[in-house]
Amino acid sequence: MSDAALLQVDGLCAGYGRSQALFDISLKVPARGAVAVLGRNGAGKSTLLKTLFGELVPMAGTIRLDGAAIEHEAAERRVRRGIGYVPQEHAIFAKLTVRENLLLGCVRQPDKSGMDYVLDFFPKLAERLAQTAGTLSGGERKMLAIGRAVLGRPRLLMLDEPTEGVWIGVIEEIAERLRQLAEEMALILVEQHIELALEVARHAYVIDRGHIALEGPAASVKSDPELMHYLAP
Ligand SMILES: Nc1ncnc2c1ncn2[C@@H]1O[C@H](COP(=O)(O)OP(=O)(O)OP(=O)(O)O)[C@@H](O)[C@H]1O
Ligand SMILES: [Mg+2]
Repeated sequence: MSDAALLQVDGLCAGYGRSQALFDISLKVPARGAVAVLGRNGAGKSTLLKTLFGELVPMAGTIRLDGAAIEHEAAERRVRRGIGYVPQEHAIFAKLTVRENLLLGCVRQPDKSGMDYVLDFFPKLAERLAQTAGTLSGGERKMLAIGRAVLGRPRLLMLDEPTEGVWIGVIEEIAERLRQLAEEMALILVEQHIELALEVARHAYVIDRGHIALEGPAASVKSDPELMHYLAP
């Protein structure tokens, strides 16, 4: 990649207790554009994002944001440095309204103008501000989760399966929003929709059983004869 890396990960190992799920992961994310992380179920994609966010303490390796080592910092500190995260599950508060969820996204921002931006960005949310988040459709929930994260004004936004459980007719709308975000910030996009991910992202990493099996520009990963070998169930 030509751009200087915003995030640089080297030799990252992580897991749960004594059960290691990630082995020697090295990757780079430039300041703009999306990087896709692909891999079959259980490959370690969510574990990677949890470790980058600070929910899991790495067993080894370094995570640098703008050159600063952050691998031992709490998630809270990483958020203040500009890392946003939309987890695969429990990304919204189901019992709160859409408006309340969004307000939680901008608690740190003295300037609340981001709210208007997000409601323009996802007009469906503007129609549902008073609705309880738990009653939203799959696609609307994802929009709410992404919108809330965007309100934190991240420099690096990590999205774990932003189209999972989303009706096919709405997937392209979310993909278009991701393309827009990728023009303004760094994205790490974990996706099961391979075509979509490789079309939105410039660069891709494929994880197989906790190891990076394949990496490169999205176009070359897409045409790699080994790709389906690492993604087939
Ligand atoms: N909380 C946990 N405790 C113990 N092991 C876990 C835990 N979460 C995940 N694992 C294990 O870590 C490995 C990687 O899981 P991870 O959730 O990162 O995969 P994934 O690539 O995100 O899969 P999916 O596509 O299904 O979301 C798997 O073997 C999984 O069983
Ligand atoms: Mg996952």
